[in-house]
Amino acid sequence: MDYFEFLDQERALIIKEPRCPQPWINYLSNGRMHAFVSQAGGGFAWWKSATVYRLTRYRQHLAPMDGPGFYIYLREEDGTVWSPSWRPAETELDKWKAIHRPGISSFEATYNGLHAQLDLWVAPDHDALLWELKLSNPSNRSRKLDAFAYVELSQMQWTDEFNWGYYIKYMLRTDYDEATRSVRYLFHHQSHPNISEVPLVYFAGSEVDTWCGSREDFLGSYGSESCPKAISKGNLNNRGISCGEPAAALHRQLCLETGQSHSLRFALGVEPGALLEPERCKQAIDGLLPTLLSKEGFDEQRERCEKWWTTHLEKLSCSLPEPELQRMIETWSPVNTVTTARFSRSVNATAPGIRGIGFRDTCQDMIAIAYRRPDWALDKLRSLLTEQHADGRANHTSYPIEKSPSNESLHSDNHLWLPMLAHAIAVETGDPGFLEETASFYTNKESATIWEHLMRALRFTESHLGSHNIPLTLRSDWNDIIGKFSKAGRGESLFASFQYVYVLRQMLALAQWSGRNDDADTIREWLHKQTTALDACAWDGGWWRRGFDDNGAPVGSRSSPFGKIFLNPQSWAVLARVGSREQQEAGMAAAAEHLLTDAGLKILSPGFKTWPEESNPFSGYGPGTGENGAIFCHANTWTIMAEALLGHADTAWEYFRRLVPENVIHRFGVNTYGADPHAWLSNIVGPENTRFGWGNVVHITGTAAWMDIVATQYLLGIRSELTGLRIDPQIPTHWTGFTVRRQVRGHWIHLKAKRSGHQRLQLNGHIMDPSQSIPWQRLAAENEIVAEM
Ligand code: NOJ
Repeated sequence: MDYFEFLDQERALIIKEPRCPQPWINYLSNGRMHAFVSQAGGGFAWWKSATVYRLTRYRQHLAPMDGPGFYIYLREEDGTVWSPSWRPAETELDKWKAIHRPGISSFEATYNGLHAQLDLWVAPDHDALLWELKLSNPSNRSRKLDAFAYVELSQMQWTDEFNWGYYIKYMLRTDYDEATRSVRYLFHHQSHPNISEVPLVYFAGSEVDTWCGSREDFLGSYGSESCPKAISKGNLNNRGISCGEPAAALHRQLCLETGQSHSLRFALGVEPGALLEPERCKQAIDGLLPTLLSKEGFDEQRERCEKWWTTHLEKLSCSLPEPELQRMIETWSPVNTVTTARFSRSVNATAPGIRGIGFRDTCQDMIAIAYRRPDWALDKLRSLLTEQHADGRANHTSYPIEKSPSNESLHSDNHLWLPMLAHAIAVETGDPGFLEETASFYTNKESATIWEHLMRALRFTESHLGSHNIPLTLRSDWNDIIGKFSKAGRGESLFASFQYVYVLRQMLALAQWSGRNDDADTIREWLHKQTTALDACAWDGGWWRRGFDDNGAPVGSRSSPFGKIFLNPQSWAVLARVGSREQQEAGMAAAAEHLLTDAGLKILSPGFKTWPEESNPFSGYGPGTGENGAIFCHANTWTIMAEALLGHADTAWEYFRRLVPENVIHRFGVNTYGADPHAWLSNIVGPENTRFGWGNVVHITGTAAWMDIVATQYLLGIRSELTGLRIDPQIPTHWTGFTVRRQVRGHWIHLKAKRSGHQRLQLNGHIMDPSQSIPWQRLAAENEIVAEM
């Protein structure tokens, strides 16, 4: 079955079959008000935090899956009911498609001669999800129908709702404001973490005849979302609730003559201050709705939403011989990195949104944002610094909006991602000034300059080395479950060591660039010590080891029965420039030999056994899943980067090509892969598992950031460095070349990369040295660069 196609001119994913194996979702957000919506209209809305201000409900793991959502019911004169998003009515439609565009989702359906289009997006200037329903009647008879819009409301504090919902049902009410045609929802639970912020929720319509504020009244007892009791009656009961299950439904009766069209507009939004400033809060909504709900109001907000995305996406475009790769690089990767920058690893169709902000995750997410929006990356860096302790380590997870206590568990890597983010900001802005800014440490007892924060991160690692002088693994490094080898606290991580060397090199460059000579000397010493330690113990003969367990035995060695070879050390040895060229090449070749599948590289091989075969297993993950041998896309990104740095253009592009979701779908089929065609995912179940090919943890993954970085900076090869712009395009042998247009530090770069058999570089007609980066001062506002290889 042909499930989808891309319309690149419109940056659109067209989904042609609503019954996808999993919800294929799109995020709609203005940075404060958020929602995701699936191809079938399922999804939920939240304001700021999906834990504290969850506005509507969604069944994350329960069946029937992918509901509730943002529902429209159209009831015909004969009682037939249908929905433009197919769900919830599930009536077979004559024509149907869903379209996900950056920030906007649409559903287009035709039923019995009547056409309906529903567009959803979040207003950039107001915290409201906007719904525009356009109905048109091209048939030769007039059509009477009743249109209903419906959302199921949540008790906002999601974990409390699960735990205490049966009491909290008494702490809410819905009613209706006639003047603004809006159902108002007040949740007055007083244990709210920030009582002054509690919002008044509204669901307003441009035209409304009847309304309902109760799920029980709308659905009826044991009523289903597909045919609610109220819809079969044809109108709503105009009743709210002062306890029970809240919902908001609006109804309008319409008659469309032949050739006539009509639009209905709805807004689901919030205004803070419902409890402590009820009058001001109500007045703000009263004042806003007439303008917002007008056609002009909607048009303006849609235009501003589109503009936001155009501005973000047009910073880099390219023309490649393979459209599957081009559309991922130009559109869907940067869309995905906006999602991870906003939601870290917390919310998707199976992740409920309560796990907070992962420190290492957010650092990586923002490295990918830095080349388009260094200001945004710097803001996030500032807030991440407040999660760093004075001894240099960083918390593992934090809850900046929820204000819950951070997870302080001790890992070998979290703090090491900080300098990487700072370096990414420095290269994109060229301004060392931010390193002088002051930021407080976690406990608030001490503050220091950003530079000092970064130095303390290094010092923490330097003071937590094991018996081989390699960083202690502690609870884990990047790999969540590697701590299994270090339960007694003596295990060492070679991954953390490679990362440390990589970071030391970046910090050395930053120190020299910003005139910090004493620190540069110290860093040089640490660098020497660490590379010496690696030289002494990291090489296993044919590839790089993964680390040492508590007893000093190597992990990821040919002597190990399971997990003989891990992917990450092979790639990071190249990124960190450790060992000889021969060792680097051999490590990468070993990765290809032992880990490569036709859908990408496994994270390790062979997978560790688990219970009951193994009483003390590596993890609960079965062989071939997750960190125990899946095709781990996040880890593949660094392999692509390493292959590019080694100048292996064919292999680098091939590894990228294999993981482009569309290509994986072609390899396994939609039903095996299951996941969205327009988003990166964390991992694909590997061949050691019977579900080989299933893609999981979609959208909210570090794969997004690194695929974006790797493709734009290492494959297309335009990379900012402190002293200049590196031009290093990788052109596979079966391509003649490609072009790229990128904005960097206010300059426009028009790169023509050509395969000619000679290494040559020209900037605006001048011959340049291709082995050197182009000094920033040589760049004009517009630059024609020709790179041959
Ligand atoms: C997902 C986690 O969110 C991330 O922090 C971790 O680095 C990867 N899994 C790899 O284990």
